[in-house]
Amino acid sequence: SHKVIFDTDPGVDDAMALYFALAHPAIDVVGITTTFGNVKVPQATANALYLTRLAGFDIPVAEGGALPLMKTPGTPPGFIHGDDGLGNLPSRLAINATPLAISAAEYIVQMARGYPGEISIVAVGPLINLALALKLEPTLPQLIKEVVLMAGTIIEPGNVSPVAEANVWNDPHAADWVFTAGWKLAMVGLDVTHRVVMPSIYFEKLAQHHQHHPALATLLHAVNFYSDFHEKARPELGHACYGHDILAFVYLVAPELFETQVGTVRVQLEGMGNGQTMLDRLGHLVYAEPGWEPNRPVTTVCMQVDAGQCVQLIEQ
Ligand code: BDR
Ligand code: CA
Repeated sequence: SHKVIFDTDPGVDDAMALYFALAHPAIDVVGITTTFGNVKVPQATANALYLTRLAGFDIPVAEGGALPLMKTPGTPPGFIHGDDGLGNLPSRLAINATPLAISAAEYIVQMARGYPGEISIVAVGPLINLALALKLEPTLPQLIKEVVLMAGTIIEPGNVSPVAEANVWNDPHAADWVFTAGWKLAMVGLDVTHRVVMPSIYFEKLAQHHQHHPALATLLHAVNFYSDFHEKARPELGHACYGHDILAFVYLVAPELFETQVGTVRVQLEGMGNGQTMLDRLGHLVYAEPGWEPNRPVTTVCMQVDAGQCVQLIEQ
């Protein structure tokens, strides 16, 4: 099975992804690292602890970056994920849990050194923790088995600007560092996540089947809030939402459901195109970038997905 560190900013689709991973027999979430993004980082940490403990999992949680590497931070958009990141839960059960004493980056490095070649990272928020871990341990790419990102977009329009996806836009410098670090890297971006729509009725059924499970009631509340937002923004979807972060885990366990292209991905760091991910399919970076090396690290970029099979896999 895949030993995974889940790097996340929960977030409704982050919560969907977490519960998918916890339920999947081939995924072993060994640790969670949190980042700012959908909410500020203390809230992200509280949510990661809450979601895991509610579902009966005692997984270690390490708190991560509160701020982007260089960019001036923005304010989390409360109308998408709620001010609390989980659709403004009316109340929370008391849980007794605290994060680890070390930072997310330290935790990633510690685990990578402790289990060389065994750990995969699934990262579905802004990429500050991976950037800081690379700074601490420059050989990290050789110690990590594989990295799967929910990040970026190539052909599909962006979701925070005409060209930028939120996780990259929130910390473009960290993302560019991650794309050029040289690990086995896959990008699951809007090109595929906008093809996979999760109807909220599916979560209602799930919650009905497990009526006494507070974790599923919490997930249902969050998904309903997220679907309300989607229905307003994209009425053609109905009361449903994009799967986003969950698809990073789907790629980890079923990469055959995706059509991919391989090439160097770089991030636009300034100006109106800030946060854009560019996939160099034809080797043109050699003209655009002074000092370009021919053996520049490449990313496997998901361009298309079998959406039907994907939803089936998630529903199981
Ligand atoms: C990504 O941005 C966040 O709002 C979601 O949780 C997801 O990780 C989608 O662009
Ligand atoms: Ca996320």
